[in-house]
Amino acid sequence: MKKIIWPAAAALASFSAYFALRRLAAAPIHQEELRELLALCYTLLGMTVVKSCSYFFFDFLYLKRTGREAPDLLKIMFSLFCYSTLFMLILGVVLKYNVTGLVATSAAVSVVIGFALQDTLGNFFAGASLHVEQPFKIKDSIRFRDRTGEVETVSWRSTTIRTPDNSFLKFPNSLLARDPIEIFPFESPHRHSVAFSASYEVSPRTVINTARSAALGFADISYEIEPSARITGFGPSSIDYELLYWMKDYMKVGETAARLRERLWYAFHRDNISMPFPTRHVLFQKVKTEERECVAVVDYRRAIDSIDIFAPLSSMEKEALISLSEVRLFGLGEFMVRSGEAGDSMFIIGRGRAEVRVCSNGTHSTVAVLNTGGFFGEMSLFSGEPRSADVVAVEESEVLEIGKPSLQKLLVENVKLAKAFSKKVTERLAALEEHAGQVGRHEDIKVEEGKFFERIKRFFNLG
Ligand code: CMP
Repeated sequence: MKKIIWPAAAALASFSAYFALRRLAAAPIHQEELRELLALCYTLLGMTVVKSCSYFFFDFLYLKRTGREAPDLLKIMFSLFCYSTLFMLILGVVLKYNVTGLVATSAAVSVVIGFALQDTLGNFFAGASLHVEQPFKIKDSIRFRDRTGEVETVSWRSTTIRTPDNSFLKFPNSLLARDPIEIFPFESPHRHSVAFSASYEVSPRTVINTARSAALGFADISYEIEPSARITGFGPSSIDYELLYWMKDYMKVGETAARLRERLWYAFHRDNISMPFPTRHVLFQKVKTEERECVAVVDYRRAIDSIDIFAPLSSMEKEALISLSEVRLFGLGEFMVRSGEAGDSMFIIGRGRAEVRVCSNGTHSTVAVLNTGGFFGEMSLFSGEPRSADVVAVEESEVLEIGKPSLQKLLVENVKLAKAFSKKVTERLAALEEHAGQVGRHEDIKVEEGKFFERIKRFFNLG
């Protein structure tokens, strides 16, 4: 407002001076002097009008209609046009100059300047159209001519983007206004995909479910829209798929795709899904045993021996338990069990480390850390209840998954085993409740243990 008040006050003062001079001057004042004063009056009045219009159009109307501040470039262009028209009018009408010559000269000069600054002016007007149209905003990511990055600045001449490698690229605005741009708006999800292939031997449903679960739990993948997978073609040696997921920050796309591929490998390895590749040569070669193993061999016998709970089992029973169970491999950050899911197996960590995490009031916290020789999943296995917590691999981990049928027989013959598990589960339940701030809910841990033992007997039909 101040910007309008000052020229208005000055215009008022100069008009007052002008009329006072005309009326009160004793001696007749020269026409030329009065004209110059009048030109000053009109200049100040014109400035007031231009500033008022600019305020009304941009600071009020534009803001109200679009909810955004009007671009500075637009304001400057508007003022430039109004002032040059005002200047011409005052020169021609008030000061009686011959503006035709001036216009002709300035037109000729403009043509010369226009030719000389063809590119610069092109960029200028393209910049103006980008400012008005605003096809993208700062922090949005754009793909232009195979280059991608986050928009850092949009000036009147060029637009600067920051690439995922943290280098900066400047594009002249005239190019951006001419060619197609792909825009990934910041904070609004856009879809990306990772291509992979799987064996013809495995059903597409199994592959799709495994791939989808591999994409869960990524902080950078939007959880609002679930990841999906679909078949894209039948290749010569494999079925081709793509995993589709949504992200809000384009700068993390490359990194996330790489981590997804890693997760896919682990998930496929665990579910015995092979990723075939075209074979060109058949090599007959004797391979040494240690070269054949791509994943470290874990001595589960030693791991089971180190767990007190399994002490009641004989050596043969332990061996049988191992041979009936499956080895699973998990990558860093993968969920080995998810809270709330149904579960009918337990796991022994043969190699690696895992965290037991619970979520309360939207915040995740770690209840326990399990190392090699640790076990988890027994709570659901023995009670039939949903998983009580998330168990996440915090380094590459190999685990032995023991299913319900493998344990059933052993429990029938070893009541002590069921008792030992009742004790462990009761302890862990108490720890979980304590963590959730429900200390003292159960008065006697022995009574709880007894109740759980009865439950195991019922659940496993132990008679
Ligand atoms: P389950 O409920 O099947 O799945 C989550 C697992 O986390 C649970 O079995 C236990 O094995 C494990 N777990 C839960 N609470 C604890 C705890 N306090 N300490 C160690 N492990 C736990």
